[in-house]
Amino acid sequence: MLSPSQQLIRLGFGFMISQALNVAADLNVADRLAAGERSVDDLAAETGCRADALYRIMRVLAAEGIFSETADRRFELTELGSALRSDEPSSPRDLIRMMNREPYLAFAQLGHSVRTGLPAFDKVFGKPRFDWLADHPDDAALFQHAMIALSQGDNEAVAEAYDFGPFARVVDVGGGHGKLLSEILMRHPHLSGVLFDLPAGVQMARARAGDFPPHTEFAAGNFFDSVPTGADAYILKKVIHDWNDERAVRILRNCRDAMKPHGRVLVAETIIPPGNELSTIKLIDANMLVVTGGVERTEAEYAALFTAAGLRLERVISTGQPISVLEASQL
Ligand SMILES: C[S@@+](CC[C@H](N)C(=O)[O-])C[C@H]1O[C@@H](n2cnc3c(N)ncnc32)[C@H](O)[C@@H]1O
Repeated sequence: MLSPSQQLIRLGFGFMISQALNVAADLNVADRLAAGERSVDDLAAETGCRADALYRIMRVLAAEGIFSETADRRFELTELGSALRSDEPSSPRDLIRMMNREPYLAFAQLGHSVRTGLPAFDKVFGKPRFDWLADHPDDAALFQHAMIALSQGDNEAVAEAYDFGPFARVVDVGGGHGKLLSEILMRHPHLSGVLFDLPAGVQMARARAGDFPPHTEFAAGNFFDSVPTGADAYILKKVIHDWNDERAVRILRNCRDAMKPHGRVLVAETIIPPGNELSTIKLIDANMLVVTGGVERTEAEYAALFTAAGLRLERVISTGQPISVLEASQL
C-alpha cells in the first residue's frame, strides 16, 4: 500500500511511463513478443537499441504489468501488453504514439494554457494544430490512424443507434479516415454519402477509395468557409470538441445553412459527465485545452451552441458506447 506521498510521486512521474510505453510502441515490442518470450539482447539487436538501456525500460513496463520478466532479461507479453499488438483490432498503439509526440511536447507548457486559456500547442509549434498537421503529412497520417484507434467501436455504435433510413444524402463533416461514413453507407445502401475534410485528409481517404462503399463521394474544403450543400444530414463526429464556442458555432451554422430545410445536424461526441469518477474524456478535454483550443462539453453546453447557430437540440441518442448523438434541426 503506497502512502499518499508515494502515490503523488507515482502520479508526478507519469510522463516517464507514458514515454516508456511510447518507445515500446514505436519499436513494436509487443509484435516482436507475439510468438513468445525473448531475450532483451535479441530485441535490442533487432531494433538497433542498446540492450542495457532497453532492459531498463522493459523493466519499467514490466512493473506496470505490460510485460513480464520470465527469467534473467527475458520478457513475455502479458494480457495487457498483448492489447498493444498492431494486429489487435482495438490496438491503441498509434494513438499512444501520436499523443506522445507533439501533444506531449505541448503539455510541457500546460501552465501557459492554464494561465491564458490558450492552446500551448500554438506557442510551442508556432501555429494551430491542424495547420501544423497540414505541413507534416507523415504526422497527419499517424493522426488519422490514431483517430481510427480512438474511434474503435464508436463508428459501428453511432451507425447502429441513429436511424439514417429516412435520409437520401449524408455529409460526414471532418470525416477524416471515413470509417463512420462507411459504416453508415454499408447499413443503408440507398444513401449517398460525402466524406468532407481538409484537402490532405481527403487525399489520404481517396487513396483508399476501394475500401469505401461505391456510393461514396469525396469533397475537400474548409468547414469554416462552407460545407457541401443540399444534404439531409450533416454528421460531425469528434469535430466540435476540437473548437472553442465561437468556431464551433461557425461550423454548425455552415451545416445549418447548407442543409435541406427539414434536414438534421448530428453531433456525435462524448458528453462530459458530472462528478469525480475516472473518465478518459476528462483527459481528452485537457488535451483539447492544450492542443487544439477546443473543449469537451455538457449536454446543456451543446444545446447552447446549437441555439447560437440557429439550431434546436431535438434529442440525445445514447449508443451503448461512451459517445452520444445530439440531433438538431433548424430553429
Ligand atoms: C478529431 S478528428 C475527427 C475525425 C473523425 N470524424 C473521427 O471521428 O475520427 C477532426 C477532423 O477534422 C478535420 N478538420 C480540421 N479542421 C478542418 C477544417 N477547417 N475543415 C474541414 N475539416 C477539418 C481534421 O482533418 C480531422 O479529420
